[in-house]
Amino acid sequence: MYGRGVDLHVTLDGRGDFAARIYRQLRDAVLDGRLRPGERLPPTRELARRLDVSRNTVAAAYDRLTAEGFLVGRVGAGTFVGAVPGHPPPARKSPEAPAGSGLRPRRLWESIPDREYGEEHAYPYDFGVGVPDGRLFPLETWRRLLGRELRPRVAGYGEPEGHAGLRAAIARHVGVARSVRAGADDILVTQGAQQALDLIGRVLVEPGSCVAVEEPGYPPARQLFQSLGARVVGVPVDGEGLDVAAIPSSARLVYTTPSHQFPLGTPMSLARRTALLGWAERRGAVVVEDDYDSEFRFSDRPLEPLQSLDRGGRVIYVGTFAKTMLPTLRLGFLVAPAALRPVLRKAKRLTDRHGEWYTQAALARFIDDGLLARHVRKVSREYAGRHERIVATLERDFADWLELVPSAAGLHLCARARPGVDVDDVRRRARAAGVGVQALGDFCAQAPTQPGLVVGYGAISLDRIDEGLRRLASCFSPDRSAAGPPR
Ligand SMILES: Cc1ncc(COP(=O)(O)O)c(C=O)c1O
Repeated sequence: MYGRGVDLHVTLDGRGDFAARIYRQLRDAVLDGRLRPGERLPPTRELARRLDVSRNTVAAAYDRLTAEGFLVGRVGAGTFVGAVPGHPPPARKSPEAPAGSGLRPRRLWESIPDREYGEEHAYPYDFGVGVPDGRLFPLETWRRLLGRELRPRVAGYGEPEGHAGLRAAIARHVGVARSVRAGADDILVTQGAQQALDLIGRVLVEPGSCVAVEEPGYPPARQLFQSLGARVVGVPVDGEGLDVAAIPSSARLVYTTPSHQFPLGTPMSLARRTALLGWAERRGAVVVEDDYDSEFRFSDRPLEPLQSLDRGGRVIYVGTFAKTMLPTLRLGFLVAPAALRPVLRKAKRLTDRHGEWYTQAALARFIDDGLLARHVRKVSREYAGRHERIVATLERDFADWLELVPSAAGLHLCARARPGVDVDDVRRRARAAGVGVQALGDFCAQAPTQPGLVVGYGAISLDRIDEGLRRLASCFSPDRSAAGPPR
């Protein structure tokens, strides 16, 4: 805003009929939607002073615009943009570069898809993966904590590694909840797990070097390392987790989700964890441990994270608050071996200086006051109920078509299709029946040898699960749809 009106950019360099030029620029701004009906223009005196012209010049332009209906004067209130027919006009576009202008992005971006892995959340029975239930988020408490932090402070930049109070709180939290060995100085706060992976890739991945990821796995990780120029190789996952013997010997970085393999859901066995750490030590490689949703555990005791088993300083532990809090907060962190910390800090500074301070401060308080632990306990009970209901129904009503992959944590589970089941066809029918469910193939770089479905329960409430699964069952066997699945 300028003075008491809109601060519109008007250019009057050189000589010429200033009133006509002011008129044209204001008229164009109204016509193309930069100035919207009802907005107040600066008083003639103020605009004249700003443009260094006489007040009469501006008044002449305003008079003409008023006569033509672009502006309306209200006595005692000022001059406003009028209700011009045709509003709102089509959105303005930035200039197009002509073909052959040489404006070409790097070729590798051609292989990176435009979308995340699915659009399941658009369906009324939403078994999509990757999100917690926003309705369970303690919004009032969060508003209060954030409000308390929104107070004047020195208007400078913060430290790249993040808010000191939050780093200390995270270190305590992951020490207690996940037995991660870290102090406040070991924590780098990031904008979600994705930025942690980006920073790690920036400091460790040489263009053309080999990065090993799980197959099936987490597409945003695979694509990110590809975008940084890595040669990304998928390593198969079996009932014990990542097949360590199949990691290419040239890999210098291995990305894995050992607590709750994404998307299969199996935990990595202790034998595999030990083997992976031994492999990394022998090869001088780094293991990135993405512990994205293991706070939600429904039965057995969790295995130790790789980070706390690591004796050779090979593991970078990545955590996120996308599931325990909200994905839109963009809050995560990494814990790196001491040798990598200074360079990760530099990468963070160059990438975005640091994350958003008030949110970090509010999260620090949320953790310190015990509210995160309480929230996780509460939502875990809710998710456990959903998990149990889905497991029971799949085992009872889907046994002819699907075989559950055992898992006891997180916000999704996976079921392999039995021979003869056309998963893509089931998914198509499901969408038509209002059910969003993911195919295992969505998370594979190569078509999976045994396809399946990935069923998320972060977004769907318990009371919609039965009907959603009843509809889903009818998609496997259309002739039974009228009666519903066997009970
Ligand atoms: C394997 C895995 N890692 C990390 C995340 C969270 O990423 P972020 O913290 O960037 O939202 C997800 C979310 O779906 C995930 O599935």
